[in-house]
Amino acid sequence: MIDSMAPENMTFTASAPSNIAFVKYWGKRDAAIQWPANDSLSMTLTRCRTITSAKKIPGSRDIFRFEGQELTSDRKSSSHKVFEHLGRLREELRVTSALDITSQNTFPTACGIASSASGFAALTLAATAALTGETEWDKLAVLGMPRQRLAHLARMGSGSAGRSIFGGFVHWAAGDTANSQEIVEICPSSHWGLSDLVIVFSGHSKHTSSSDAHKAAWGSPFFPARLAGIHSRMERVRAAIKSRNIEALGEQIESDALEMHAVAMTGTPAANYIQEDTARFLAWVRQERSTGGLPAWFTIDAGPNVHLICETNAYASVAKRVAEAWPQVRVIMDQIGPGPTLARGTAKELFGEVTNV
Ligand code: DP6
Repeated sequence: MIDSMAPENMTFTASAPSNIAFVKYWGKRDAAIQWPANDSLSMTLTRCRTITSAKKIPGSRDIFRFEGQELTSDRKSSSHKVFEHLGRLREELRVTSALDITSQNTFPTACGIASSASGFAALTLAATAALTGETEWDKLAVLGMPRQRLAHLARMGSGSAGRSIFGGFVHWAAGDTANSQEIVEICPSSHWGLSDLVIVFSGHSKHTSSSDAHKAAWGSPFFPARLAGIHSRMERVRAAIKSRNIEALGEQIESDALEMHAVAMTGTPAANYIQEDTARFLAWVRQERSTGGLPAWFTIDAGPNVHLICETNAYASVAKRVAEAWPQVRVIMDQIGPGPTLARGTAKELFGEVTNV
């Protein structure tokens, strides 16, 4: 039995990055089994991460502390998903131990930097390590937990989390059947140095959760058109990544983000994540690109903040121009990265004090 392999009170820590989608996952064919309506593709980040530690404890009640605050397992609370996820992992591993978990982000939570992606990726990895006593990918695979399986488990917590189990560029294929879904690292982070300047207009939680907005997408008259064009968009995005063509990639990511937000704004109920500042910033990026040659393209997740994507060798000049034109705005500098890490030890032992990026 796997359960007996990890002693109680031995701490394991996962550090999982967020990811930014270039082709957005928007809408679910079946929410209960987290089967997305369309393929998505993302770049795994480096600095925006969730660091989660887990250890087995006696008894049957899980404890989960997020940034010092204990979360409730109450069915009606939003943190219920976390406890449900732990139950799912135990069932998968056929173990029964309760877990004590502490978690923190290196970036503002719930503001369009996908905190559920890094959060459920880190939780899946830390809990699996605590329950099995293993931290190495090949040994986890021997126990029936290869990386692909871990990605699918993370996806069950939050769809985008499945992509954060890998590094570089990651394609989540929806498949023709729910069981043929695949999450694949198509290129490692070394393939192409891309940066993400996260323009933070609001650090506050978003109004409509992406889970609710996924449902609302089916009510939008534009959703069928989006789905019809996804396959060719994916081909173009994959080709642009393969040939490291930033103009071709940039054009695709901007139209994909705007398409997703058009669906969100016209869904039932409608959700509007784009605030006034966001809209002004998008117009500025396009203007600067056409008249001033700014080599950067935007994308936006389900929040008011903008991700400005550029090649890493252009990062310093792009950051300078943003700082000059938008001096009051906070910018988080991030870039493509190799994916999550998993090790034995506490967060403090492994990383020291975790500070916000
Ligand atoms: C806009 O993964 O947060 O970030 O599966 O319901 O937890 P759930 O949704 P979530 O949706 C992410 C939506 C997005 C686009 C993307 O990351 O692909």
